[in-house]
Amino acid sequence: MSDFYQPFEKLIPIVVMGKRLQVPENNLLLRQLQYVCPDIGTGKYCWNGECRYCEITYQVEPGGPMMTGGLACLIKARAGLRVTKLAFELRYNLSEALAAAPVAED
Ligand code: FES
Repeated sequence: MSDFYQPFEKLIPIVVMGKRLQVPENNLLLRQLQYVCPDIGTGKYCWNGECRYCEITYQVEPGGPMMTGGLACLIKARAGLRVTKLAFELRYNLSEALAAAPVAED
């Protein structure tokens, strides 16, 4: 696997805009999303919390509080994380991956 990723042993399920994605554990969410959308690696992202192109609304787990203003470059997703809103840049980059991903059943 690429040097971009922190070491991981397995993929974990997360839900993004109602679609189920499998991403590498133990990585920042933006890097986890790069795993399913390599274009993120060549996008406009600053990767340090300044540009806000990776802003999301999310729940750490189903039924948990909705977190707004989160930055995918600063948080690590654990299994069950749900993203319900994406900044335009992320939505653009992820559009094909999300169109091809299965619908989350829960
Ligand atoms: S990539 Fe710029 S704030 Fe996250």
